[in-house]
Amino acid sequence: MKKVFVKTPQHTYTVYIKNELLKDVHSYLQKNKNYILISDDFIPKMYYETLTSQINIEHAYFIKAGEQSKSIDTAYSIIQKMLNDGVTKDYTLIALGGGVVGDLAGFIASIYMRGLTYVQIPTTLLAQVDSSVGGKTAVNAPTMKNAIGTYKHPSKVLIDPETLKTLDIRQFNNGMAEIIKYGLISNKTLYDELHANNINEHIDNVIATCVAIKAQIVYLDEKDQGVRQLLNYGHTIGHAIEQASKYTMLHGEAIAIGMRIMAKNQSFEDSLIQLLKQYHLPITHNFDHKLLLDIIKTDKKAHQDLLNIILVEEVGNGFVKTIKKDDIEHYLR
Ligand code: GLY
Repeated sequence: MKKVFVKTPQHTYTVYIKNELLKDVHSYLQKNKNYILISDDFIPKMYYETLTSQINIEHAYFIKAGEQSKSIDTAYSIIQKMLNDGVTKDYTLIALGGGVVGDLAGFIASIYMRGLTYVQIPTTLLAQVDSSVGGKTAVNAPTMKNAIGTYKHPSKVLIDPETLKTLDIRQFNNGMAEIIKYGLISNKTLYDELHANNINEHIDNVIATCVAIKAQIVYLDEKDQGVRQLLNYGHTIGHAIEQASKYTMLHGEAIAIGMRIMAKNQSFEDSLIQLLKQYHLPITHNFDHKLLLDIIKTDKKAHQDLLNIILVEEVGNGFVKTIKKDDIEHYLR
């Protein structure tokens, strides 16, 4: 088993990474507690059954799988059901699923009766390496991804890499885009390792490496004022592409294109293209630049006429650069 500690000024919690952890999930959770669960209709039922055979889940709420469920309407409808079910502040909420489930459940946990304890059990690669760790929770507004959100850390994160065996290849590669990002912004050894074809054989180590990078970044900058912005490499343009595609593109697919665009004319451009192709991630798009620019200008990372972008000139060393908003066009050309 691998353990990574996430430390912030207010909270310290543990990310546990272990094959077959789910079969033993009760040993990570408090006994005699009332649990509720949020999951989606795409997560294999056997994970839910594995949990219910070990702990007392009083109420379970299943959302429709997909980014469209990450909305204030879905959050409100679950909150209403929780109220009807008599869920009180002493319940612990379990988020079982991918990034959408985790972000939505975290958001609900942060606002329901001013806050419930919650546990992340991420079952997709993207959620395991990124979204379940670090306390960002959110739902989307129609015009902006993650527009409505909070910081609320889980009490623990339980990762069972065996769940990746039931993940379809597109979802697996979706997570690979974030792993490639970690390599580019902070770990050249990881980046180099990704070029080998045997990633599945040591995916638990890869997950632990990514979670450790994220924990270090969150420790230094919980609230996204500085170094945490590195995690947004490829995301400014990527989020715009994702939104322009009306979320038919997965997050990792859109940021793959975003990273490829930001890597233009860098020494590692060819190796990145090769890596993205290796994981069947897209490298081009057909969206109108004007549409993307309009979306980017309302980006959360924009302040008046300035925008923070993330650059990598040498693999393993990302940095933040502040540019004029209009200058992002230079990268889109
Ligand atoms: N996924 C980016 C962050 O947690 O900051």
